[in-house]
Amino acid sequence: MTTSENTARYEAMPNDLEPYWMPFSSNRQFKSSPRMLVGAEGMHYTTTDGRKILDGTAGLWCVNAGHGRTEITEAVSAQIGRLDYAPGFQMGHPAAFEFAARLCAMAPGNLDHAFFTNSGSESADTALKIALAYHHVRGEASRTRLIGRAKGYHGVGFGGISVGGMPNNRKFFGSLLAGSDHMPHTHNLEHNAFTRGQPEWGADLADELENIVALHDASTIAAVIVEPMAGSAGVILPPKGYLKRLREICTKHGILLIFDEVITGFGRMGSSFASERFGVVPDMMTLAKGLTNGSIPMGAVLASDTIYDTFMQGPENAIELFHGYTYSGHPVACAAGHATLDIYQKDGLFERAAELEPYWIDAAFSLSDVANVIDVRAMGMVAAIELEPLAGKPTARAFDAFLKCYERGVMVRTTGDIIAVSPPLIIEKNQIDQIFDTIGTALKEAA
Ligand SMILES: Cc1ncc(COP(=O)(O)O)c(C=O)c1O
Repeated sequence: MTTSENTARYEAMPNDLEPYWMPFSSNRQFKSSPRMLVGAEGMHYTTTDGRKILDGTAGLWCVNAGHGRTEITEAVSAQIGRLDYAPGFQMGHPAAFEFAARLCAMAPGNLDHAFFTNSGSESADTALKIALAYHHVRGEASRTRLIGRAKGYHGVGFGGISVGGMPNNRKFFGSLLAGSDHMPHTHNLEHNAFTRGQPEWGADLADELENIVALHDASTIAAVIVEPMAGSAGVILPPKGYLKRLREICTKHGILLIFDEVITGFGRMGSSFASERFGVVPDMMTLAKGLTNGSIPMGAVLASDTIYDTFMQGPENAIELFHGYTYSGHPVACAAGHATLDIYQKDGLFERAAELEPYWIDAAFSLSDVANVIDVRAMGMVAAIELEPLAGKPTARAFDAFLKCYERGVMVRTTGDIIAVSPPLIIEKNQIDQIFDTIGTALKEAA
């Protein structure tokens, strides 16, 4: 292939946009005025028309170490040359074992075993399956119910959407997993609007789990899954004491607690994991995104010793868990993961996020008085600006702000009428200012 053919394939605007059915996108709106990215370095994307866009969202909450990290490029290309693929069933390769050991060493408590997947969705479904199988193996096969939370997001697999609580992600897709149920969410503007960090109000909402247990009986419940900080629903921070209370109720009733840390892992909350920040250790943790800095698809489930040891019984040549993916522990993904963890450590990015947090929160709260802003929430390196919806046109106000920010060179994300920002952790203070100034300008322009 010639250089100019390659340039056309990777850098020029394609002639025909119709064949590609884009995920979670308004395909017709996009195709009528495409926003096409062709390069990325540090804090910026480059577009087909050569513009630089400040990445206010770390891609999709995943590029925590910033774009174009040569350490990752080199590790990936060396590994693809050395071992491009190795089957993971009944075979292994060193990088996967080493990577599992590194992750478990970072994780809190006795989360000492890692099961590899390729995405956050697969991690959620894997954790739910492990929970069901765990109870089965230990002789409590009646524990088949999975409990999630309203507004929860655990990816798009059937398990994840069954316990997930975002209506549009569920309502088109049939009856989903039988027996799943939901706790109420903790989003409450009446009590918690404009709270910096964790809200004071709402810990008691965890007691709703007791009501669910009373309704179904603990003997039917396998696991509870929550995001410690709900990201996709628009940055909903856990009320003080809420997660601890969930932990206590789960322990009391023999229910496994799963934290979905696909977004909150790897520095987003100013710590390795949200679990560490909030001081609550789950029985399983799901990971993806920042695991490889978004460079190569990969996810993981970390499970406790108790769970793992429960499976390690019976004849030695028996397969203990009938689950896995062709690409579980893919050598190239493991290489990307190792290089990513090296960067996080070498550059002290989790500590950097913690140091920047006060500045970040102040900058987010500078938008509190802008017209139509009805809440600002921020913690770690994540913030949400919630807007009063336009009468009769839900989501339109935030989407308009998203487009205006993009025109002005800043990428933000929206969900409903909430603007969410979560930049790479290498961000500088002047870039933090740029993000919130641009959002403010976009909102004022539209008002
Ligand atoms: C908390 C959480 N879980 C799971 C997922 C799904 O991850 P993926 O899109 O990699 O399947 C996401 C994605 O945003 C997420 O935020």
